[in-house]
Amino acid sequence: MPPTSEPPTSEPVTTRFPEGFLWGSATASYQVEGAVTEDGRTPSIWDTFSHTPGKVQDGDTGDVADDHYHRVREDVALMRDLGLRSYRFSVAWPRITPHVTADALGDVEQRGLDFYAGLVDELMAAGIAPAVTLYHWDLPQALEDAGGWTDRRTAERFGEYAAVVARALGDRVRTFITLNEPWCAAYLGYAAGVHAPGRTEPASALAAVHHLNLAHGLAARAVREHAPDAEVAVTLNLGWFRAEDPTSDADVDAARRVDGLQNRVFLGPMLHGEYPSDVLEDTCEVTDWSFVRVGDADVIRQPLDAVGLNYYSPTVVRHWTGVGQKQSADGHGDGASPWVACDDVEFLELPGPRTEMGWSIDPRGMSELLLRLSREAPGVDLYVTENGMAAPDVVGDDGVVHDADRTAYLHDHLAAVLDAVEGGAPVKGYFVWSLLDNFEWAYGYSKRFGVVHVDYETQARTPKDSARWYSRVAAGNELLP
Ligand code: NOJ
Repeated sequence: MPPTSEPPTSEPVTTRFPEGFLWGSATASYQVEGAVTEDGRTPSIWDTFSHTPGKVQDGDTGDVADDHYHRVREDVALMRDLGLRSYRFSVAWPRITPHVTADALGDVEQRGLDFYAGLVDELMAAGIAPAVTLYHWDLPQALEDAGGWTDRRTAERFGEYAAVVARALGDRVRTFITLNEPWCAAYLGYAAGVHAPGRTEPASALAAVHHLNLAHGLAARAVREHAPDAEVAVTLNLGWFRAEDPTSDADVDAARRVDGLQNRVFLGPMLHGEYPSDVLEDTCEVTDWSFVRVGDADVIRQPLDAVGLNYYSPTVVRHWTGVGQKQSADGHGDGASPWVACDDVEFLELPGPRTEMGWSIDPRGMSELLLRLSREAPGVDLYVTENGMAAPDVVGDDGVVHDADRTAYLHDHLAAVLDAVEGGAPVKGYFVWSLLDNFEWAYGYSKRFGVVHVDYETQARTPKDSARWYSRVAAGNELLP
């Protein structure tokens, strides 16, 4: 039997969050903005992917999404009314330099910059600190046509684009996050093919990993130079991996390998200046890593002010003996495997509660990963830059969404944040995913993560019960039952 998830009922020692704790919500450009052809924006890989039949559930696209591009004032007012103090949003690269090529950044589109500058002003006026993600997966299509993240020029152009955004917004933005979940961009996009650009080439996924790492370093350096007062951060979706049988060497080794591919392949170069040798060995039959050049390690390892953790779900693995049906419940859909060089690793279905995504619930991973980060990155602040759940929300006859399941999920994960703080992790804030129901990538609009319900016919926003609860928690800076 897999290790069981204890029902997360335990209350933390204290219910109070540290003074000044930042309560926020998060979104991403392609998931909420819409307006995909406005103000000079050119296609991103997600426009191409979502318009390719069979790639996204129900043929959904981000063409309109939450129409956030036109409803930014209303959405900021919503956050203000909920008492949220920070908004994590991403900048769509194809709005800023729509004619970028692999060799040149191209002209800056002022209308694109103006949109984000207006959003930042609106937030500041509402007392909400902007946290800007520079890359949340909407790569300009022209760059993908030239090789995308398999080509180091994409990383070089990204550094230049980051400088443009930092110069334009850096005087008012509290935090710049270079990348969101590079694991997904690399492996889901280039190995599993379930995310844009939809490639199923394991070697390309590892080249993408390296160029995303390089992009992070170049962007971190650019932000430091052009926005010296802002915090420089990166957001990683670290996995909480456990071996089914901790006494089995083979299971423990399976956990080590997936930890290498998802966690240490980013933490190693970003925090410690090198790729872990076991990761290089594990993947040596897939690639020789010859895309890594002398000097890259110094670029990637930049001083960071903060690391953001996105955490949703635990993972238990075991060594697959090759007999019987292999379990692959890794929560990333039915495409090819994102797990390069892991044919003999099984991802187990766990007993216990699950979200609408089918993802198991176990908040202990949140505290474990925050504590791990605090040990690996001493002196670096931590944020939970995403956490939340998809639920089968319905607007009731009373016009309200009674999402008690989501409130319970948020409660238990916030309790886990308190546990981590108690254990010494310097967690400075928490961003619920998401402010709004939105385009959930390959699942289209079928999965609702918002604390605010969106009626996609009318674009009406209705705060769910969880939003009201979260608002009270933020107001009191204290966990409520
Ligand atoms: C992580 C991603 O950053 C976000 O875009 C996505 O919607 C959530 N996880 C939920 O899957």
